[in-house]
Amino acid sequence: DKKQENSGNIFLIGFMGCGKSTVARELHRRYGMRLIEMDDELARQEEMSVADIFREKGEPYFRKKETELLENMQKMSGTVVSCGGGAAMRQENVDCMRRSGKIVLLTAEPETILQRVGNSDSRPLLRGRKNEAAIRELMEERRPAYEKAADVVIQTDGKETASICRELLEKL
Ligand code: S3P
Repeated sequence: DKKQENSGNIFLIGFMGCGKSTVARELHRRYGMRLIEMDDELARQEEMSVADIFREKGEPYFRKKETELLENMQKMSGTVVSCGGGAAMRQENVDCMRRSGKIVLLTAEPETILQRVGNSDSRPLLRGRKNEAAIRELMEERRPAYEKAADVVIQTDGKETASICRELLEKL
């Protein structure tokens, strides 16, 4: 197996609104890491928004593209990857991340998530679920897979982005 072992990449995983994109941008700006935002990358590739990919091509198609994207990332290094919220739900995706970096799980309480995702329509899986109970339910469903995948877990409620980044780099 000639694949590079753990090339200093950081994969941010966790529920929608847990802060993956914000933390990734800060690691890019302040610490000079290269940045990949999976959702943006897929939207660019498909020339439509994530919501439109779900609507027009379906979730299984999106998941397939997500896996392909992670497979194509194997050669990079020094990159922070802000993963889509569902990316760590597939073991093959997690294996792919593990081969080239560390996996960091960001967590937040459902009420925090609700505040952060606000009224935006960009998240197809939160359609009709913009309430604490529904978010909690989906979150609980995903929690075991997230926790199993994570090398490091960081709780983000009430914390500044800068301090989350410091904590993350300390724990890695
Ligand atoms: C998803 C999360 C979204 C996006 C898609 C599916 C999920 O990413 O990939 O809507 O399954 O949790 P964010 O976590 O960046 O919102």
